[in-house]
Amino acid sequence: MDHFLYRDGALYAEDVPITEIAAAVGTPFYVYSTATLLRHFRLFDEALEGLEHLVCYAMKANSNQAVLRTLAAVGAGMDVVSGGEYRRARAAGVPGDRIVFSGVGKTREEIHLALTGGIRQFNVESEPEMQVLDAVARDLGVVAPITIRVNPDVDAKTHAKIATGKSENKFGIPIARAREVYAMAAAMPGLEIIGIDVHIGSQLTDLEPYELAYQKVAELTEVLRADGHNIKRLDLGGGLGIPYERSNADPPLPSDYGALVRRRLGHLGCEIEIEPGRLIAGNAGLMISEVIYVKKGEGREFLILDSAMNDLIRPAMYDAYHDIIPVLEPAIGVEKQPFDIVGPVCESGDTFAKQRMMPPLSAGDQVAFRSAGAYGAVMSSEYNSRPLIPEVLVRGDQFAVIRARPTFDEMINRDTIPEWL
Ligand code: LLP
Repeated sequence: MDHFLYRDGALYAEDVPITEIAAAVGTPFYVYSTATLLRHFRLFDEALEGLEHLVCYAMKANSNQAVLRTLAAVGAGMDVVSGGEYRRARAAGVPGDRIVFSGVGKTREEIHLALTGGIRQFNVESEPEMQVLDAVARDLGVVAPITIRVNPDVDAKTHAKIATGKSENKFGIPIARAREVYAMAAAMPGLEIIGIDVHIGSQLTDLEPYELAYQKVAELTEVLRADGHNIKRLDLGGGLGIPYERSNADPPLPSDYGALVRRRLGHLGCEIEIEPGRLIAGNAGLMISEVIYVKKGEGREFLILDSAMNDLIRPAMYDAYHDIIPVLEPAIGVEKQPFDIVGPVCESGDTFAKQRMMPPLSAGDQVAFRSAGAYGAVMSSEYNSRPLIPEVLVRGDQFAVIRARPTFDEMINRDTIPEWL
């Protein structure tokens, strides 16, 4: 559920008409709903009620300062994967003890930053990383709290580019080697083992892979405890999917997921951490775009929009589906027709949808891409020298620009000319 609904024939973000925002900031732009962000955070928080837990928002999904502040204000922790994300989380007021550091290639500098700035735990992904972490911690005279990310070799049944829990993926250490690696960690004075971490992939629409992975984590918990390790926290990753294609989807809910966690892991007495990104931010955002031209091609019509693959890369990169709806509600019974919906970038891959059934649209009409709040703005670029598009946050009847569109001069002046030119 989200807070983007038609009212009297026009699409609203909470209590603000999209057309009003478009008139103020110009298209294309991203718009986020505070109420939807909060609702999705609370669904997870409530799903784990009764278990000691922390929901650490995977801020890679959407790391705008205003989004982070909105979530941090209701108690969210943050899952970060770079020094940049760590700095963003701290800048948004998130205390170090609510930040977990994930990622397969943490540098010495990033480790130093988090150890000096405060961190809840590192999710360690390899033995060499463990050695660096141990060395940096000892240099600083501190002890780094760690979990080790295990790779459970489970098929997440999601897009190959976002599956992470199979043995051929680069993530974590093979679960079969866990005892050996935990023993190595226990011998390092700069490290304190506090738990286990697992994350098997993103946009999971079936709970079965979680069942398999968490069962393995439960067994491993017992084994590692018997080996003498203090396993008191389980970080279960993120990945719960959202219904991108609303007419044809029935994804598991956070409450179903919570029940699974309780069933598989509740008896262990561990503190539970989860790292959802997409389910919190995805349906809390739209990308709004305007039709520049309607072009007749060979046997098909193209809607050429003012947004492109540089603004929302998911369709080009993952063949992802996004619902695209007109900002002005079509009259009931109006006949739909197939369009190829494309952007102006000079690549055929700059296609948002092929043969999508849409009501009649003309130049100047606006459309909204649904489910664009996660992995939208954060993955955008200025390819084709198209300035990054603005982000807007709505709360009730208010809206504010939370990242302005750079001017062309700002974009160009980021380059510097060597003195020999
Ligand atoms: N934790 C870890 C360690 C992760 O690698 C990820 C996502 C998450 C949590 C959050 O997963 P989520 O709840 O958002 O599914 N750009 C892709 C998605 C990449 C996900 C990468 N890791 C997309 O647009 O579909």
